[in-house]
Amino acid sequence: MAAPSGPPALRPRLMDRYRRFLPVTDSTPSLTLGEGATPLVRASRLGATLGLSNLYLKIEGQNPTGSFKDRGMVVAVSKAAEAGAAAIVCASTGNTSASAAAYGAAAGMEVIVVLPKGQIAVGKLLQALMAGARVVAIDGNFDEALGIVRALAEQDDHPVTLVNSVNPFRIEGQKTAAFEVCDDLGCAPDILAIPVGNAGNISAYWQGFREYADAGLVDRTPRMWGFQAAGAAPLVVGHRVDHPDTIATAIRIGDPASWTKAIDARDRSGGRIDAVSDDEILAAYRALARQEGIFCEPASAASVAGVTRAAAAGELESDALIVCVLTGHGLKDPTTAERQAASVIEAGASVGAVSVALGW
Ligand code: F0G
Repeated sequence: MAAPSGPPALRPRLMDRYRRFLPVTDSTPSLTLGEGATPLVRASRLGATLGLSNLYLKIEGQNPTGSFKDRGMVVAVSKAAEAGAAAIVCASTGNTSASAAAYGAAAGMEVIVVLPKGQIAVGKLLQALMAGARVVAIDGNFDEALGIVRALAEQDDHPVTLVNSVNPFRIEGQKTAAFEVCDDLGCAPDILAIPVGNAGNISAYWQGFREYADAGLVDRTPRMWGFQAAGAAPLVVGHRVDHPDTIATAIRIGDPASWTKAIDARDRSGGRIDAVSDDEILAAYRALARQEGIFCEPASAASVAGVTRAAAAGELESDALIVCVLTGHGLKDPTTAERQAASVIEAGASVGAVSVALGW
């Protein structure tokens, strides 16, 4: 039997499925690691706790490298390959670098990532290193790293394509998550809740919802609810934060590149961008794992933390159709998990000892 020329038919390639909405041509290489088509899961138990009967979770941690970044990276790296690029570069709080490293490896490209030293969850760092990326850790934060890679990408002596979300192909790819939400629900939600860091993803979802409405595939767009961590909430306080700080290292960003687009998404959708505390983020992170069996990374739980607060404040109709985006997988950050998890119960190797340990 001849080997299939692409992935099995049941898993259509993201760039094929939404080709009519993407900048894909016949000369764009058909790169894929199996990104997209992530589950939209109804959160019945958590929803009941919050008094919400239509709460859904978009599980983006099930992408190939464990975060939503793969949707944008497959398009950005394919377009870079189409243009003849041999090298890509990005700044990252971790997930972008893991994704760039993987797609760059698959495309046979050199990958360079610049990161804030000591601020990257260990799983993400190992993903980048294992895929063969050259990783430079700077004595500075994400915003400074982004400034550096923007300048590197403009130099002529080392041609390299920037694959941060300021690369428009990243946003093009990421908007497909909004398409999937609409396709799965059969309509747009009332509210789309999402963590916000560099603000590319909220901009991408908003673009996706608008394109689907413009194409007549849905009859409305959702209110966009973005949530930043309180110690890194420039869009909420209205000015750059020079020393952003939060346990949610993925969104530890003080000067979002897509600032204007995010504010536009908020205002045009009748939405909001609020801050949630690290305690609220961690409470949502634990609740997702314990009540729904969904292990996301801390930054991802900001969406649920924000909805939790709004529900507690009585700001939500009980039957509102709400989708919270869970942007990355919990296994990326074992350090935070270890600090939040219960301890292992130790026992001797016998039924009796295990029963005693269980308190039976
Ligand atoms: N959630 C996770 C898990 C992320 O990694 C990021 C961003 C966000 C949310 C926020 O998305 O930046 O589009 O507003 N991570 C980037 C990175 C900055 O380098 O991995 P955003």
